[in-house]
Amino acid sequence: MIIYDRFSLKNYNTFGIDATARYFVEVTTIEELQDILENNSYPRKILIGGGSNMLLTDYIDALFIHVNLKGKQIVSQDDNNVIVKVMAGENWHNMVMWAIDHDFGGLENMSLIPGNTGTAPIQNIGAYGVELKDCFVSCEAVRIEDQQLVTLSKEECQFGYRDSFFKNEGKDKYVITSVTFSFTKKNHNINSSYGAIENQLLKESISNPTIKDISNAVITIRQSKLPDPKELGNSGSFFKNPIVTKEIFTRFSTTYPEAPFYKVSEDYYKIPAGWLIEQCGFKGKRFGDAGVHKNQALVLVNYDSATGKDILDLAAKIIKEVKRKFEIEISPEVNLIK
Ligand code: EPU
Repeated sequence: MIIYDRFSLKNYNTFGIDATARYFVEVTTIEELQDILENNSYPRKILIGGGSNMLLTDYIDALFIHVNLKGKQIVSQDDNNVIVKVMAGENWHNMVMWAIDHDFGGLENMSLIPGNTGTAPIQNIGAYGVELKDCFVSCEAVRIEDQQLVTLSKEECQFGYRDSFFKNEGKDKYVITSVTFSFTKKNHNINSSYGAIENQLLKESISNPTIKDISNAVITIRQSKLPDPKELGNSGSFFKNPIVTKEIFTRFSTTYPEAPFYKVSEDYYKIPAGWLIEQCGFKGKRFGDAGVHKNQALVLVNYDSATGKDILDLAAKIIKEVKRKFEIEISPEVNLIK
């Protein structure tokens, strides 16, 4: 293991922020990970996978550990299902494509999400009506405290909307090393009810979609709305969609009957933050090198050399304006690392 001193993280975060890590190391085996976690010479350690859900500030006085564990393994299968263990450092989208190529169904609605497999459970990634938890069986993780490799069940992971145990009680206590999924081999559970997917399939005159058709539709939709981090630095949705009480929602929808919404339960409603931000006039706006994407106001972008602070200042401006106009508080989905 080589420990680099003052290392640029520009190529390790999809926002493309040129932040400097005090130290940086890449681990390719669980043993290496355990060794470095045990090493007391570095008081602050930060784990980094695909770097797709973090906003880095300019200089971070910590050891960054890049988890680059690779491999996929079929654990068991019967006529209907296959259980696959995927190591944390596998790129999420490549893994989804691999599953589709084998006609393993379940994750096709989550095609083209940036990032690595091992970090996906932390925020229970989701898109177009499906969340990671829907295929999740368990994950293995190294407990930072004693470097033991442990298995966490689906229940233990406490998944919620962009939320899990790893963002709450488990925060900064575990490093996920692999994720085990259950895929369907036949009778796939095709999930095409999300409006944008339905429209896309209609456009292509596909009435009985396969998992490959769903994946292609999702890829087309995402490419039309979401910027490719390789071309324009971004971290996907920067904000979460706010979930409000029925009382707040009723007041809101009386004033804005045209606003889109999703009913979460009898008592709670989710309002698309992208709509709120667009109504505040931010969509497509640029402030120096930080901006709001032209096709999806939930996404903040780095045109070239925005700093973490530039992005944060813009986020603060947006939060304040949404609050002023709608009396609704929106909060970031990405993790701020400072
Ligand atoms: N909308 C606007 N203006 C915008 C963006 C959205 O009016 O600039 C409206 C749309 O017209 C639509 C509604 O808001 O009526 C919802 O938009 P969309 O379907 O694009 O989804 P979203 O709620 O904005 C969420 C996820 C995305 C995910 C999509 C599709 C969150 C925070 N974001 O966005 O996830 O791809 O649904 O399932 O839940 C991500 O997390 O990085 C991400 C991209």
